Amino acid sequence: MSPSLITVAYLASAVLFILALGGLSTNDTARRGNLFGMIGMAIAVLVTIIAFVSRNLEILIVIMLAGGAIGFILSRRVQMTQMPELVAILHSLVGLAAVLIGFATFMDSSIEYIGVEKTIHEIEIYIGICIGALTFTGSVVAYGKLSGMIGGAPLMLPARHWLNLVLFIAVVVIAVRFVGEPDHNQATMLLLAMTVIALLFGIHMVAAIGGADMPVVISMLNSYSGWAAAATGFMLSNDLLIVTGALVGSSGAILSYIMCRAMNRHFISVIAGGFGTSGGSSAGPSIEGEVQTIDTAAMADLLNAAKQVMVVPGYGMATAQAQHAIADITKTLISKGISVRYGIHPVAGRMPGHMNVLLAEAKVPYDIVFEMDEINDDFPDVDVSIVVGANDTVNPLAQEDVDSPIAGMPVLEVWKGHTTVVLKRGMAAGYAGVDNPLFVKENTRMLFGDARESLEALAQAI
Ligand code: TAP
Repeated sequence: MSPSLITVAYLASAVLFILALGGLSTNDTARRGNLFGMIGMAIAVLVTIIAFVSRNLEILIVIMLAGGAIGFILSRRVQMTQMPELVAILHSLVGLAAVLIGFATFMDSSIEYIGVEKTIHEIEIYIGICIGALTFTGSVVAYGKLSGMIGGAPLMLPARHWLNLVLFIAVVVIAVRFVGEPDHNQATMLLLAMTVIALLFGIHMVAAIGGADMPVVISMLNSYSGWAAAATGFMLSNDLLIVTGALVGSSGAILSYIMCRAMNRHFISVIAGGFGTSGGSSAGPSIEGEVQTIDTAAMADLLNAAKQVMVVPGYGMATAQAQHAIADITKTLISKGISVRYGIHPVAGRMPGHMNVLLAEAKVPYDIVFEMDEINDDFPDVDVSIVVGANDTVNPLAQEDVDSPIAGMPVLEVWKGHTTVVLKRGMAAGYAGVDNPLFVKENTRMLFGDARESLEALAQAI
């Protein structure tokens, strides 16, 4: 394949990836965005194989078929609620690939680099392996936390910031010795030493982050996996991989920034670890007050008498798969002339856009789904707020208790409405492990039970 044809094909792929990112920014265009991304990736893979693979094609095909089959089976099996874990573990594979390609490139003696080119090549390898290694272990720990295999509480080692600083200095010192080291064995040992440090750093970085700050970690690891891919692109001198990695890296960085802003966190404080846990990982003051319950019939009466209803979904809606039931109720209420809107917290659920995806799946019209910032001032006019399995994202302690792990995080102020009905199974805390005084407020009623079952019964009752 001629070099100019490869360039044109790679350019087309890059444009399709940019269109894909653009498409994914709104619900309406997300499907088209995904399609662009898939076409772009198909072109990229095909052209790379045709242009660069001259030996062992059969091995490559077998590996691609095996990898594709595993991906296909996983995508069929994975529940919507397991998506964040899946994304985390996929990020870890990008990191691992960057590490392995880095070592393979370093050991490849078929191309002789000299002078400045050698220095640049060594720096590329060093940075690629470093980012890849910390992305790998960081993502594995994130997977453990998100899947519940590891506790969500932050690991607060004494002098943890000093530890991070020492690890960082060690990586820089080793880099200075590695670049230009004439003895190949010595250079390999230095590279291995840095890899071990980067692996440890990845574990420590994510282990030190508390439950409520996990959204930032996920988008941050997403960004790191992009930079690891871009570094791999430099090592392999593959322009498309550099562009694609940079697109993922920068969009992940922007998402991390948005997440930090949504949670009122400083990015540096979050990655340094343990922000918002100055009071320890305490569950905050235990709540005092009486829980008032409501039954299906009374809630149906409440809704039938309402003019303005606000639905606030959270992670419990995802686990209960209650989106279809609430969509049915929405349809019925709207047909009765009752205004229904949805208020979505930016970190509701377990991944960015989690609630929007579920509501889109249940065909809730996009124009009644609002971001927190757009809707938070409207609660005083709301007659009934239906909180479907949300907890941390509607917790008033975020505003009231400066020692709480969620202190400062903006929340949906449902308690300012006339009546709030909270659907959950019991009095368990949310992801951040903080008790919620909303449940004992004067104007709150608890409808205990699985959200889907409660809503299906409610749909009959109204
Ligand atoms: P959470 O605070 O996680 O609370 C979910 C609630 O759902 C739980 O208290 C649980 O109470 C209830 N629940 C679980 N299964 C249920 C079922 N079948 N039926 C009814 N209720 C059920 O939810 P949230 O308000 O969406 O907050 C999200 C939290 O996750 C935040 O702390 C956020 O920082 C964190 N997080 C977010 C992300 C992203 S990117 N969105 C990523 C990682 C972590 P019961 O057990 O009593 O039913």
